[in-house]
Parts: sequence; C-alpha cells; structure tokens
Amino acid sequence: MKILIIGATSGIGNYLWKYYSSTGNMVAVMGRRSEVLNQMSKTAPDTTLSFPCDIADLDSFNKTFDSIIDRLTTLDLVIVCAGVGELNPELDIETELYTLKVNVQGWTNCVDTAYNQFIRQGFGHLVTITSVGGLQPTPLAPSYSASKAFQINYTKSLQKRTKGTGVMVTEIRPGLIDTRMAKGDGLFWVMKLEQVASSIVKAIEKRRRRLIIDYRWRLINFLLKHFQ
Ligand SMILES: NC(=O)c1ccc[n+]([C@@H]2O[C@H](COP(=O)([O-])OP(=O)(O)OC[C@H]3O[C@@H](n4cnc5c(N)ncnc54)[C@H](OP(=O)(O)O)[C@@H]3O)[C@@H](O)[C@H]2O)c1
Repeated sequence: MKILIIGATSGIGNYLWKYYSSTGNMVAVMGRRSEVLNQMSKTAPDTTLSFPCDIADLDSFNKTFDSIIDRLTTLDLVIVCAGVGELNPELDIETELYTLKVNVQGWTNCVDTAYNQFIRQGFGHLVTITSVGGLQPTPLAPSYSASKAFQINYTKSLQKRTKGTGVMVTEIRPGLIDTRMAKGDGLFWVMKLEQVASSIVKAIEKRRRRLIIDYRWRLINFLLKHFQ
C-alpha cells in the first residue's frame, strides 16, 4: 500500500510508521521535526519518504501534499495523527488559539485534502484520531476537548458523504495513551502505546467505521453520551 501518516515523528504515528514501513508498504511521513524525519528515512530508506511540514501553515501543507502525489501518484491510506494539546490553567489565549489552528483549521485542511484526493481516485481509506476527551468538558484544556469534539463530528459528517464513492473513513477514538501528549497529574487508565497501535492496525484492516479504545473508555463514552 501507499500510505501517508501525518504526524509521524512520535507517539501513535511513529509506531504506525514502524509497523507499516516494515511490512512491505511505502510510507510518506510528515511532521514539523525534520531531524526526526531524516532519521526515519535513514532507518528505513526503501520504504520511507519524509516530508517536513507544519499543518498549521495551510499553503505549506497543500504544496507538500501535491509533492507527495507527484511522487506516488495515488494514496491508499492516509492516517491523520497530528495534533497538539496543552494544559492551560491560566487560560492563555494564544495557547487556546494555536490549538484550534492546528487541531481544527490545519486538521480540516489535511482531512479534506486527503478526502478530495480519494474522491478523484475513486478509492482510499482516511483515518482520523480523535479522543474520548472530545465528549467531555476539560477545564484545564478547553481548546483541546473542544477541538476533539469538532473532529468527532466532522469525521461523522465525512462518513455520511462516502456512500457510493469507494472511499472509506475510520474514526479512532482513544482514551489516555502513554505518549508525550498525555500530560498532567493523576492520570488514570493510561494505555500502552503498543496496545493502542495494534488495535488501530486491526481496525484499519477490518475497515471499521469507529473504534473506541479500550473497553473501559467505551463504557465511559457510553455513559457520557447518554447521561451527561
Ligand atoms: N496520548 C493520548 O493520551 C491521546 C489520547 C487520545 C487521542 N490522542 C490523539 O492522538 C493523536 C496523536 O497523538 P500522540 O499521543 O501520538 O502524541 P504525540 O507523540 O505528541 O504526536 C503528535 C504528532 O503530531 C505532530 N504534530 C503536532 N503538531 C503538528 C503540526 N502543526 N504540523 C505537523 N505535525 C504536527 C507531531 O510531530 P512534530 O512535533 O514533529 O510536528 C507528532 O508527530 C493526536 O491527535 C492526539 O490528540 C492522544
């Protein structure tokens, strides 16, 4: 398969890059840290193409995406992992707006660009990584939970557009995972990255519409949806 992972320099995206690049796929990887991307290309030169890019810079993303298509012609799978989330007890407005710039504006540009590419091709699988945090208010990180609520709803809307197009959209909605994103004291039910990433791979293989990881977070998700 020809795969693009947006936000592949750490955490979930990096794990998925390791998996897909070592199992016979060609993987284009994106992130802001070019030194990490260079190292990834050196580690798996035959199966990795690296593209440094800040998704908050919409022009830069659009040009980078075009170069990926010039190089690969089509894509089978695009996984959008890129995202930011800061604890913001002081409610610093710049932090809030930057989160929206990446997780809402930049993210929408990524998913729509990939989706439209798939429509033109007549096939393709888009995967978004949202969060159970999108279902509940988070006083210490309001823009993060609000941006994840946006992503959940947006992904559902795209799913409703896919009928008869040959395009598949999967939403992965994890609880807390032990990556650099999980910040703060007193975190509970923090899941191992390996466990989450292998569930994501299976959900992609099975072409599931939605996966909430894991069963405890599925229960919380159910309670929040029906009783809050
Ligand atoms: N960890 C959790 O507890 C948790 C729970 C639920 C959902 N999630 C979601 O899972 C996704 C992946 O997060 P993670 O846990 O794997 O955290 P992570 O290790 O911080 O990974 C985030 C990735 O996004 C990239 N990124 C961030 N801002 C970017 C930008 N402006 N342009 C391009 N790339 C950007 C980062 O690369 P660079 O720094 O190189 O740009 C990095 O590769 C996120 O959407 C997050 O919200 C995480």
